[in-house]
Amino acid sequence: MNYNLTDERIEELAKKYGTPLYVYDRDVIRENSRLLKDSVYPGASVYYAMKCNPLVGICRAFKEEGLGIETASKGEIVAALKAGYSGDEIIFTSPGKTEEEIEFAVENGLKVINVDSLYEAKIVDRIAAKLGRKARIAVRINPTQCFSNAKIKMTGLPSQFGAEEEELDKEFFDRLSGLSNIETVGFQIYMGTQMLKVEDIIGNTEYAMKLAVRLSKEYGIKLRYLNCGGGFGVKYFKNEEPLDVQDLKSKMQKLHERMGSELAGTEVIFESGRFLMALAGVMVTKVLYRKDSKEQRFLICDGGSNFHSSAAFLGRFVRNNFPQRAISKSNKTEDIETMVCGPLCTSLDVMGQKVMMDKGVDAGDLIVIECSGAYGFTYSPSLFLSHESPAEIMAEKDTVTVLRRRGEADDILKLQEY
Ligand SMILES: Cc1ncc(COP(=O)(O)O)c(C=O)c1O
Repeated sequence: MNYNLTDERIEELAKKYGTPLYVYDRDVIRENSRLLKDSVYPGASVYYAMKCNPLVGICRAFKEEGLGIETASKGEIVAALKAGYSGDEIIFTSPGKTEEEIEFAVENGLKVINVDSLYEAKIVDRIAAKLGRKARIAVRINPTQCFSNAKIKMTGLPSQFGAEEEELDKEFFDRLSGLSNIETVGFQIYMGTQMLKVEDIIGNTEYAMKLAVRLSKEYGIKLRYLNCGGGFGVKYFKNEEPLDVQDLKSKMQKLHERMGSELAGTEVIFESGRFLMALAGVMVTKVLYRKDSKEQRFLICDGGSNFHSSAAFLGRFVRNNFPQRAISKSNKTEDIETMVCGPLCTSLDVMGQKVMMDKGVDAGDLIVIECSGAYGFTYSPSLFLSHESPAEIMAEKDTVTVLRRRGEADDILKLQEY
């Protein structure tokens, strides 16, 4: 689906901007935003979970596409504001918010702060009182159940995220309503990431909706906001089926028939990172050396897990080779098992584990790691071995925008004081 990321274009961009390099396709961002907005619960809004790729230029693209934004730190709020979002388009969710971060969120009039506990709600209340403001909060819930084959479940089991469903009782809500500087507008439930089965997404969404409706009725909360999370997955590997968005759309419509009247007057929100961004980006790395070691072919490249840890299996989720291809001067001969490695002094720095690749690929050729727009550079140990960081650029048919310029060797000295 990478409309603007053909081999010829990538070669040209790699020459101009150097390698390693991240390239994002603006048209894929547009298309994915449209697809997701069109497929979720009727009337719901979609928020970009910027943790998956926090570049200001990427956030700005989602703002242009009409999405809200979900942030997880003061730094992300700063970037979202810089991208043109106003406070009331930003939501803030994270398990460890500092008082400074909460103060910043309240000062900027964020749409909602999703709190994980009564303890945290009290801190928001105290800070709002100090600033003479009223802050909107929602309670993030760790539900007792999760209907999901999500690759990483984040609820339904012991978790650091959210208030326990079992503990949401009269006393909890009485104490919450006693906090006069906050307004409880609803709930958030995020069930997990990389869900490819429509039934899982629907099951989780319906569970979240029923739970929120029940709690609101029982404890007198006016349910104005319900954040159903998302976890919309993408196809990384051959054995996976992509999320069937047509089926999602029709099942969401049926869900609306079941829940619509209960949720009249409630703003329903979904948040997504991976679905919106993964397929919109590639990482390009250049082969520096070829080496044969004990009958195994190795390609040593200029960027590896330092800039793309997920592709090197260092993340928790992906345990398989990312789809990857070579742009090579060799006339294709035969494919052989190849280890695609980065430049780090660790044997874990492998981005392609025995991938089948043309035998002729050699120094100077490019390796394109696909599906890299989400949880790529941002999720990587980029300080390890102090290599110059890749440029990150966004391509459209006739234009290229530099989102982050290429790093320089002495960047590593910045912020060091002695
Ligand atoms: C609260 C919350 N929202 C949104 C996301 C984004 O998830 P995804 O990239 O699967 O869409 C995450 C990911 O961990 C999350 O924890």
